[in-house]
Formats: sequence, C-alpha cells, structure tokens
Amino acid sequence: MGLIVVSNREPYAPRKGEDGQLTWRPSIGGLTAALDPVLRRVGGTWIAWGEGQAEVEEVALPQGDPRYRLKRVQLSEAEVRDYYHGFSNRALWPMSHYFIERTKYLSAQWQTYVEVNRRFARTVLESREPGDPVWVHDYQLALVPRLIRESRSDARIGLFWHIPWPSSEVFRTLPWDRELLEGLLGADLIGMHTPEYVRHFLSACRRVLGAETEGDTVHWQGRAVRVVDRPIGIEVDEYGALASSPEIEEAADRIRRTLQTQLLLGVDRLDYTKGIPERLEAFGDFLDRHPEARGRVTLLQIAVPSREQVESYRQLRSRVEGLVGRINGRHTQGGWAPIQYVYRGMGREELVAHYRAADVMLVTPLRDGLNLVAKEFLACSRDGVLVLSRFAGAADELPEAVQVNPYNPTGLAEALNQALGMSLEEKKARLTRLQERLRGSDLRAWADGFVAELTGA
Ligand code: ADP
Ligand code: G6P
Repeated sequence: MGLIVVSNREPYAPRKGEDGQLTWRPSIGGLTAALDPVLRRVGGTWIAWGEGQAEVEEVALPQGDPRYRLKRVQLSEAEVRDYYHGFSNRALWPMSHYFIERTKYLSAQWQTYVEVNRRFARTVLESREPGDPVWVHDYQLALVPRLIRESRSDARIGLFWHIPWPSSEVFRTLPWDRELLEGLLGADLIGMHTPEYVRHFLSACRRVLGAETEGDTVHWQGRAVRVVDRPIGIEVDEYGALASSPEIEEAADRIRRTLQTQLLLGVDRLDYTKGIPERLEAFGDFLDRHPEARGRVTLLQIAVPSREQVESYRQLRSRVEGLVGRINGRHTQGGWAPIQYVYRGMGREELVAHYRAADVMLVTPLRDGLNLVAKEFLACSRDGVLVLSRFAGAADELPEAVQVNPYNPTGLAEALNQALGMSLEEKKARLTRLQERLRGSDLRAWADGFVAELTGA
C-alpha cells in the first residue's frame, strides 16, 4: 500500500545556495510538523504546492535520508494570489476562526480555488496506484475529495481538517457553503480535532445541505461519510529525549543565565488568531499592577513571519512591534527590558532549548484548531507551567494547564501571576499528569489510527 498525502504546504522548501545547490529546509507550521514524521516512517507520496524553484517537480525527502517522494504542483503567480493568499487565507481561514469581519468573499478567487483544487485532484489521480488510500489535508483543498471521487468511485479517501470548524451560523456566511461541504463529503472519513468541531460540521450538513446525519455519520448522495474527532499528537518521546540531552540542557542554561530573570515564552506564527497583542497587553498590565515583578521576569516572544502578502498579517506585525516598543519604553530600567521580541523562525534544537528554559509558556490564541506548540512545550519541560487559552482545540485534552480566556485582560494578567508564583510541587504534579496524557495519544497513534480507520485495517 502506498499512502498518498495531499496538502497545500510542502514539508520542506528549497533554497538555492551560492554554489547553485538546493537545500531543503523544513517548513514551519502545524500541518507539516505533524505529517513529515508520519511519511518518514511509513513512506509513500506527498503531493503539495511547489513554492519557488519551479523546475523541481519531484524530489525524494528528507534530503540525505530519503524516505518518501514529494510531488510538487506548480501554480502561477495569479493562482497563488487568488487561491492561497486569496480564498484560502482571506475567506476560509478567518471565517473558520470566527473572524468574519476580516473575510473577503470574492467569486473570482473562489473560481481559482476550484481550478487549483482540480489540479491537485488530477495530480493525485496520476500518482495513485489502484488501492492506494488518499489522505487530503486542510482547508486549502476542501474540494479535492469530491473531485477524486468523481473519477474513482471506489477510492479510499480521508480528509483531516486541521483548523476549527465554526458554528453553522458563521459557516453559512460563506457564499459557497454548499459547494464546500459537497467537496468534503467526497471523503469516506473526515477527521477534526474536537467533538465541538464535529458537532458544528454535522449541523452544517443538516442545515446547508439538508443531509441526514446519524451519530457520527452523514448520509449524502447514497454514501455514508464518518466524521470523527481525532486530535493530533506529537512525538512525545523524541521531544523529551532531545530536551533532556546534555547539549540542550546546556543551551537552556545559557538562555537562563543570559536573562537572569524568570522566563515567560511565546512561540507562534505571526497570525492574528494567536492573540499576541492581547498577550503583550496583559503582560504590560501585569507589570503595572505588580511592581515587585519588574526586573524579575522577561517575556520572550518568538514570532515567525507568515502570509505577509495578506493585509491583516502586515497590520498585525506593526501592531505587535508598536506594543513591544510601548511596553518596553514604559518599563525598561537598569539594564532590564520586559519584552524581547524575535521575528524569525527557529530550528528544532534552538526551539526546544527555549521550551526547556521557560518558566511559563503562554499559548493564548483567540481561536486555534489545536495548537501543537502547547504540546511540544509540555513534552520538553521539566517544571514549567502552561498557560493555555480555552479557545485552543488542545484545551479539551489538557485540563491541568492554567486555562485562560484571552479576551479577558485582567484574568490573563492574574493567570500570569498565578503561574509565576506556583510552588514547585504543584508545577511538577500538573506537568507529570499532562505528560502522561500526551503519551496516551501521540503522533504515531493518531496517524496509524486514522489510516487504519480509513482503510478498514
Ligand atoms: P499552526 O498550525 O497555526 O501553525 P501550531 O501551534 O499547531 O500552529 O503549529 C506550529 C508549528 O510550527 C509547531 O510545530 C511549532 O514548533 C512551529 N513554530 C511555530 N512558531 C515557530 C517559530 N517562531 N519558530 C520555529 N517554529 C515555530
Ligand atoms: C496551519 C494550517 C496549515 C498551514 C500552517 C502554516 O497549521 O492548518 O494548513 O500549512 O498553518 O501556514 P502556511 O500558510 O504557511 O502553510
């Protein structure tokens, strides 16, 4: 069996060096972070948009230790604009995260989305041997299941939706609500992160399509489609082993020695769903109300640039930079500045050293499908505290985290105070329990489980 994975984002992006050689560097984001280890383990084909270096159509990855093949779908500049920056990230992304006021529903962009989804489906059909299961991922490719189904009625097709599925009241604002649902229902099995998302999806099928649902099954056009909540896990043991290796311990010590204060950490793609300005403001409030904390705590925010072609993301960047300047301007004294801001991605080891060094991890999205950063931190920490938004999908699974409502500035500031002052005993007790939970459903269980359900194995 050759598994075929289909996603918009490719797992590694090529960079041409001065010598003309290509280096393939890991892409940053939840989807590729989760799927690359899966494909490395089971092999198969990954089909994704080939951004840049158009001449490379197929490559064996990872570089130097190839385990699977990547087939790269080529898109024109106009297609990237309308399908990726446009319909995917200015319509579906904000709508699914409840930011209706940021949506732009443009029919020209929808048309391009349909065409690009067709191109992906065609590539799957060309690459697939009879019997190969196909696993499609995320909102950029919602129509692909149906488009494959139209030519291969017997194919096993799964789809995982990595972002929230909103209330049907919000979903119905999409002018192509029907078409999108029909596209997804080409799959045999649809996975989402939480029971809430599944419930909203089933209700959209009833209201928008008039479909019948029965338990976790949608009956549509003579077929039965199962919709299940299967939250993604991480490679818990690999993260834990790396975090406790002597090199990382040393790097974490260096970070702590350099700061000389307690460390609050934020790690995100620079995305308006992540609640970064709200987090910075809460930290500013906290310093106003707790003068004793000044000079004793530093917030390190590591933000990786994302989707910079989209206006909302550019505005967010200036807002964040303005806030960092304002809060630092207000509180910096005696060589201490309250916020350190890093505007770049970090490699795995550097990131893990920061997780290891952190006293408190701030994961405070306004809305998030799941949030892998929260899980990565837990797997790497020795006695840190996780402050977690109740609007992250992962909150369901992580009740021992300090859970917060990111829309409530006072509550958020108080949660910081609680986390910073927690006794070592309590921190360890919470962390142990959370780490046990992570181990109970790691990445391997998630991927193997989904593929087994899909193929009926
Ligand atoms: P999303 O899916 O919205 O990108 P997740 O938290 O689920 O959010 O996944 C983000 C992934 O990207 C994680 O694996 C995390 O390690 C990585 N990541 C996020 N921000 C950074 C950063 N600033 N530097 C390096 N890696 C990052
Ligand atoms: C989220 C989405 C993914 C996406 C990732 C990074 O995890 O669910 O589909 O790949 O963000 O965003 P980008 O637009 O850079 O692929």
